[in-house]
Amino acid sequence: MSNKEILWYLLKKKHINITLVNTVKIDNTALIKVEELSKNVGPQSMLSSNFDRKMYHYGTFPEGFSWGISSSAYQIEGGWNADGKGPSIWDTFTQTTNTIPDNANGNVACDSYNRLNEDLYMLRALRVKSYRFSLSWSRIFPDGTRKSLNQKGVDYYNRLIDGLIAHNIEPMVTLYHWDLPEALQKVNGWESAEMIDIFNDYCDFCFATFGDRVKFWITINQPQTIAWSGYGLGNMPPNVKDPGYGPYIVAHNLIKAHAKAYHTYDDKYRQSQGGLISIALNADWAEPKDVSVRREVVAADRAMQFQLGWFAHPIFKNGDYPDALKWQVGNKSEIQGLPQSRLPSFTEEEKNFIKGTADVFCVNHYTTKIVSHVTARLSPASYEYDWDFKEEEENDSPTTAIPNQKVVAWGLRRLLNWIKEEYGDPEIYITENGVATEAQTTWDDSARVFFYKAYIDEALKAYKVDGVTVKGYTATSLMDSFEWLNGYNVGFGLHHVDFSNPNRSRTPKYSAHFYYNIIKDNGFPLPDDEKQSLTKPSTTKNIKRLQMCLFVSRDQFPTRYSALRYWSQPA
Ligand code: BGC
Repeated sequence: MSNKEILWYLLKKKHINITLVNTVKIDNTALIKVEELSKNVGPQSMLSSNFDRKMYHYGTFPEGFSWGISSSAYQIEGGWNADGKGPSIWDTFTQTTNTIPDNANGNVACDSYNRLNEDLYMLRALRVKSYRFSLSWSRIFPDGTRKSLNQKGVDYYNRLIDGLIAHNIEPMVTLYHWDLPEALQKVNGWESAEMIDIFNDYCDFCFATFGDRVKFWITINQPQTIAWSGYGLGNMPPNVKDPGYGPYIVAHNLIKAHAKAYHTYDDKYRQSQGGLISIALNADWAEPKDVSVRREVVAADRAMQFQLGWFAHPIFKNGDYPDALKWQVGNKSEIQGLPQSRLPSFTEEEKNFIKGTADVFCVNHYTTKIVSHVTARLSPASYEYDWDFKEEEENDSPTTAIPNQKVVAWGLRRLLNWIKEEYGDPEIYITENGVATEAQTTWDDSARVFFYKAYIDEALKAYKVDGVTVKGYTATSLMDSFEWLNGYNVGFGLHHVDFSNPNRSRTPKYSAHFYYNIIKDNGFPLPDDEKQSLTKPSTTKNIKRLQMCLFVSRDQFPTRYSALRYWSQPA
């Protein structure tokens, strides 16, 4: 790659802060030099060797860093029709189709509706600072609207929120995590613009009811997943297979619904309640297949725009879709002989209404894809064919229990830098990050420990070395739960749940122990023995030892006994 090409790439992506530095701290001076360099030099990151990428960075996160853990209502609560709860589209889907392994459903799931104290116990034991959970809309409004209010549902969330506050755990509440009240699907769900007001009224109720204690609101979880899987591919409920139009119509409504809820909070509640509100957007990192080929770099940028920018650009930039989407979808629509683009457009008034409707940037991240340009087919019309890029798995990365979710930790650092540059240095919360292991994995989940060690360290590099404003990290998830289309075949939990036991007993895995320590240390401070070794002249042996620190040592592995001991002594 010539210098000119590197410069072009950096200007295009404004990736001046991305660099992979040699983070082995030989002494302080060396570290300072490396950090200064990173402010000006970027291309190392793009050209870094696999060895470099695996180097480890010691350090801690800023004071007050929000260490959290997540769940969502349908995945854990069960009690699908308890105490007046109305059905959601996920209840209907799982109870009437057989596409999920073992015909699994969330009827009981982790039974959190009846086991709230056990959930609180785990959270206390972990000493998390925040708990991200979602409200089941149809538990609160069984038919989706205020007139059907179910007080028992409200009571459940009041108990949960009070329990968290009593233990200094900040509730981070998602208003909508995919489980739309079935009754609203009968009026076409998110394909209908009527949903904007209906959603707003539900949010308004939640702000008024819980907002005295909830200071962190997330309107919608992963609108891109809702739009594409729910209304394009149709593999998730409401199973609408309309790939050319559905996703764009639905995204348009979701963006407006989010913006309206934001303004309601802003106008009616912010002053008295003083919280913040955002939306959780999903983003894989898209790495160009070849950074020296312009077309591949542009394709990777387009991949970022089609997944993340679709929502982030209107909300965080100018109220409108990214140019890449407007151009691609407009152009394809024209060649398809359509009178107008399948991508709807916002009026000027709508743009002004949407722009700036998030106080912080919340991103869910699981993996990285290698992206290259293709010229996709024209027919049938589809969001997927509008992309003109293809995705492949990263070769040199460990696999997980979900085939297309490889462990590519360095992608998180690049993603965070991209967000910083693209959206003007927002405060970033990683609101989901986690890895699937086989359901059989009980407490010995060293693969998950490896995952967290590597990913959190990349977030640390982004914060410490690159100057990205990373404010919080949320591990996914609190416990094994109903994993949507994967049923109970895989688990993301830091706690194992015995789904064959009516008590749904919960047991901390090795990763719970490990995460507890990260939280306690606020990151990865340099261990004392490493400090000592660094005061000695650097020998090849010392350096090797430091470089090897990504390998999980068996000595750190808690015995079953110590795992249980930790368990029996919560905060
Ligand atoms: C969802 C989570 C889920 C995770 C793993 C994310 O896209 O938001 O609810 O647990 O994927 O399946």
